[in-house]
Order: sequence, then C-alpha cells, then structure tokens
Amino acid sequence: MPKISVGRDQDDRDEHGLKGTGIIGKHLVGEKEEAHQANPIYFDLARPHVMGVFGKRGTGKSYSMGTIAEELQTSDISHNLSTIIIDPMGIYWSMKRPNDRSINILEDWDLKPNGFDAQVYIPKGKASEFEEQDMPYDDTFTLKPGELTAQEWAMAFNIDISSERGILLERVISKLQENYGTDYRIEHIIKGVRNFDFSEEVQEGLVNRFTAAQNWGVFGEESSIDKFTTRGELSIVDVSAFSGASSGWSVRALIVALLAKRILRRRMTARRIEEIDEMQNISENEMPITWMLIDEAHEFLPAEGETPASKPLLRWVKIGREPGVSLVLATQQPAKLHPNALSQCDIVLSHRLTAKQDIDSLGEIMQTYMRHDLKHYIDALPDKPGTGLVLDDNSERIYPIQMRPRKSWHAGGTPDAFD
Ligand SMILES: Nc1ncnc2c1ncn2[C@@H]1O[C@H](COP(=O)(O)OP(=O)(O)OP(=O)(O)O)[C@@H](O)[C@H]1O
Ligand SMILES: [Mg+2]
Repeated sequence: MPKISVGRDQDDRDEHGLKGTGIIGKHLVGEKEEAHQANPIYFDLARPHVMGVFGKRGTGKSYSMGTIAEELQTSDISHNLSTIIIDPMGIYWSMKRPNDRSINILEDWDLKPNGFDAQVYIPKGKASEFEEQDMPYDDTFTLKPGELTAQEWAMAFNIDISSERGILLERVISKLQENYGTDYRIEHIIKGVRNFDFSEEVQEGLVNRFTAAQNWGVFGEESSIDKFTTRGELSIVDVSAFSGASSGWSVRALIVALLAKRILRRRMTARRIEEIDEMQNISENEMPITWMLIDEAHEFLPAEGETPASKPLLRWVKIGREPGVSLVLATQQPAKLHPNALSQCDIVLSHRLTAKQDIDSLGEIMQTYMRHDLKHYIDALPDKPGTGLVLDDNSERIYPIQMRPRKSWHAGGTPDAFD
C-alpha cells in the first residue's frame, strides 16, 4: 500500500521518499459516524505550495494551521525553512506551551504534548499595551514609511488614487522618493503635503490620515522584519493589537504587504545564488524557503476590493514557485477569497462547509476531477472537530481526513459560560 503524501509529485516521491514531509492527520475511511481512522496522511513541506484552509466557524482552521506550523518546525528539513504566521486574532502565542489538556488524545496518536520555540513579534508602539495587560511577546518590529508606495498608502487610507487627495499623495511621495530615496518619515510626508498647492481641505484630509497613521504604533526608522525569516524559526506576527481601530485591517494589510514584497525579493536573489551554488555542488540555501501562514486571509486578499497586501500576495501566488515561497490561506468562506488565489491552490484542506456558494468555489478549484463527488464527500464527513477533506492537485485526489491533535496549546478554542 503506497503511503498517502499530498502535495508531493512522483519525482520527489521516487527521489526523496517521505523526507521533508510531515504527518498532518489520518485518512478517514467510511461514512459519518462509521468512519474510522486509517493510514497517516503525509504532507509535503519541501516544495512551494499555495494552500487553502477552509471551513465554517469553529471547524478547526486555525487549529490545523498550527498543526502545519508544528510539522514545519519538527521536520527533517526544518533548518532549510522559516515559518511566519500572520496572527490577526492573537491566538498563536500559546504554541510555546505544551498541549497538556489533550494528553490522552495525543497518546492515542503516539504523540506527546510539546511547546515550540516560537518568536512572538508585536508592533513596537504596542509594547506598553502588551505589558500592561501581561501579554507575553518576544520582540517588536517596525515598518519604514519610505518603503510604502503611494498606491499602498491610498489603499490603506481608502483614498481613490485619481481623486484630488490621491493625486496630492502621489506627488508628495514621488517628490520625497526623488529627494531622499526611502529615507523619510511620516513628519516629512505631512510637511510635504502642506508644501503643494492644493486646497486646504484636500491637504488637511491627508494630514489627518497621516497623523492617525503615526499613532498606529508600527512605523519606525527601519523595517525590522527581516528577522521573521530566520532559518529554522517560527515567527508569530501578532497583529491583533489593531482590532480597536477602524483602520485595523488596513494597518495589518500594510504589514503583510511589506513583508511579502521583501521576502519575495530576498528569495529571488537567494535563488539566483543557489542556482550558482548548485552548479558548483554547494547545497545549503542562502535564505530559507519561507512559508507564510495567514489566518483570516480574506481580509488581506479579498475577492472584492483591494488591500495593500493584495498585489504582493497575488505575486506570491503567481510566481512563488520559482523563488520558493509558500502560502497557506485560512478563511471561513473560500468565496470571499480572491479568485486568482483560489484557483492557484494546489492543496486544499476543507473542514465542514455548508453554504452553497462556498462549496461551489471549492468545486471550481477542482477543475477536472471529483468535482461531482464533492458534495457527497462533504456529507459523509463525521461531525467532529478536525475532520475535513484534503484536495490534492498533484495526485488529483480527495482524501477525507481527521487532522491530528496539536502538540502545542491552541488558544483559539470556543469559550463557554458554564463555569
Ligand atoms: N484536529 C483537531 N483535533 C481536536 N480538536 C480540534 C481539532 N481541530 C479543531 N479542534 C477543536 O475545535 C475548536 C475550534 O477550532 P479553531 O479555533 O481552529 O476553529 P476555526 O475554524 O479557526 O474557527 P473561526 O472561524 O471562528 O476562526 C478548537 O478549539 C479545538 O478545540
Ligand atoms: Mg480561526
């Protein structure tokens, strides 16, 4: 019986066997409550993928994303990988703790609770907030305003780039870039806005927005985000602190935008060096292959409208295979995720879905195979947390799965009012 390994093509199977894979769960055989757990399902970690993680509220998306991160951390190729979790809910810090409350279930799987050496990063300006509330973190980060384009600012501020305000913004930014490259601060942008000959109303509208941006607590002298891609490390980028602000998702998207652009650029350079090394038989890669796991991904890469992160993430989706970047996108509703991202998913983990439009979008991904059986597969899933379907484009197969229990603590559980 050949082992089930999703995301791995035949050549890699022949050459590497199961090296660079992780076990994410077990194949479910049978229907509904009769279903039983059969063979382990291995998951390819060595090649770049675009993966979708879907499912209704509380069906296990965030939990499963944590499982994938655990596998990335413990695999035999971890030293060549770096993993970043974009955490809009502030739930992944608990991966540092062992999952002691599931010790019995873990035993059934021959696993033990285990905390991970994750690095939790928060925006620098939010440090005192975290400290006041006794919330643990490891380090802070900042973004450099000069690295953002006028378009990205416009999207973050919800300004039409062809409006008066948009035109002024464009002029100010291009003037600053011309004079200082990327070495300017928000104060300079504000000063610049007032130097151009636009109506006061237009100017002040922009000034207000940039003044607000100064209070986001995320801008600084440099973009200190390269540390997120340290070899072998799991970085949790906690962007939950913006949840109160109306601009919350815009700030988060700016962070993801800069991160995605930088990583791609650095991986592209690294890839070139690696190719040369490969020719000379040196094999250590220059910059680790990067996995970015984004929870609530529809907020960054929505089907309707555009965020600052849309373009950079679509570039990952489109050309990420060659430089070697992987993306895992979790969302309740696949129909709300940008169709180009959806159609490029080569692995999908779908927990329970019921809305027709979501099942239809899932069917869309599976262009050629098994499309008609999808509904049947979904209906046959036992109603238990962590069950789902894995759709593997490589083998063109669907596997019902029970995702494995987490070794590390999952903080995203459903609270109750019983006690
Ligand atoms: N593989 C699993 N094994 C055991 N329990 C699980 C598994 N997956 C999920 N659960 C349970 O289901 C709960 C909800 O999971 P999770 O927080 O991942 O939901 P979600 O799909 O991300 O929901 P939301 O859309 O609200 O973010 C978890 O707290 C956990 O108790
Ligand atoms: Mg979740």
